[in-house]
Amino acid sequence: MHVKALLAESIEAAFTRLGLTGDALVQVAARPEYGDYQANGIMAAAKRAGRNPREVAAEVLAELDLKGVAHNLEIAGPGFINITLAPEFLATVQPGEVLASSAPKTIVVDYSAPNLAKEMHVGHLRGTSIGDCLVRVLEAQGHTVLRQNHVGDWGTQFGMLITYLRESGEQSDELQDLERFYVSAKQRFDDDPAFQDAARQAVVDLQGGDPATLAEWQRFIDISLSHCQAIYDRLGITLRSEHTQGESAYNAMLPDVIETLRAQGLLQNSDGAQCVFLEQFKNKKGDIQPIIVQKSDGGYLYATTDLAAVQYRTDDLQAERALYLTDARQALHFQQIFALSAAAGFNRNGASLEHMAHGSVLGLDGQLDHTAVAGFIRLA
Ligand code: ARG
Repeated sequence: MHVKALLAESIEAAFTRLGLTGDALVQVAARPEYGDYQANGIMAAAKRAGRNPREVAAEVLAELDLKGVAHNLEIAGPGFINITLAPEFLATVQPGEVLASSAPKTIVVDYSAPNLAKEMHVGHLRGTSIGDCLVRVLEAQGHTVLRQNHVGDWGTQFGMLITYLRESGEQSDELQDLERFYVSAKQRFDDDPAFQDAARQAVVDLQGGDPATLAEWQRFIDISLSHCQAIYDRLGITLRSEHTQGESAYNAMLPDVIETLRAQGLLQNSDGAQCVFLEQFKNKKGDIQPIIVQKSDGGYLYATTDLAAVQYRTDDLQAERALYLTDARQALHFQQIFALSAAAGFNRNGASLEHMAHGSVLGLDGQLDHTAVAGFIRLA
């Protein structure tokens, strides 16, 4: 039985024995120093009986049999009863019996979301563990939680990787070391203009849906995701492959995102790029910080994908809340996405969109720490 209901039942049984009527009105205590729960119904019951509430509260307390359940019972204020649960009782209850929400919701939790061109690094580890913690608490409360691993699996860096894969003869054992592979590919990209052209062409092919390029891209994604899964399993994180809904999943929606914005007169051309300027995002100098949704070469951006994701989550998934776990450096990005989603109607059901920001993981030198998680926790 739910703890609240159990407490209410014994208090109301005491009411009956004392010839009182009414609801015990048990609520979670407003402050920890008041205990775990408080019963607010004594005042009304006393009033109905034409009696002094504190006196009635004392009688209820004497009548109450909560041995083994409550560890401390106290009269407070005009006639509240504060209840602190007994540790031995708490040890026997299921989480849902304490936490159960009276209004269960469908909640998307967007967390972990590493970028698949490289190994997952310790910064992502932080959002991964906080996100998994939230997911477990929300599920224990009875909410329907939809995990969404919004992995960075799309974008220009994959053109570079695919080109290097072709050049280096596709040795899959070399690919297993994603970190080294990325560094070598980047080196080639920085050193050789011909390589850069090939990489740009590979991005165009990828975005155009060329089957051979897509197959090469898929190899990266599979290997990279399997590395992430090994870390999740090792750490007991509840993310599974079915929760992966990466940036690439929204590719087909992106032209419509732009068209929707255009149709609403929200788009502005700024040096060839398509941008949205929302008044409320002025910086200290008074300049509006634009939301760039399409580059001059036609490519889409992180923001475009996130707008599509809001639509998917609030329409297809019917989420009533969506929680986003990243570090605080993305605060402006999410404020802009949430505001624009409301303005342009991507937030279909008025869902509550919330950025759960955490701090950055820094090295001893005060710089961002990009140590690969695998190395960090020494995966066997
Ligand atoms: N991949 C992103 C990063 O590493 C995090 C994605 C968070 N989720 C989102 N819907 N933008 O910064």
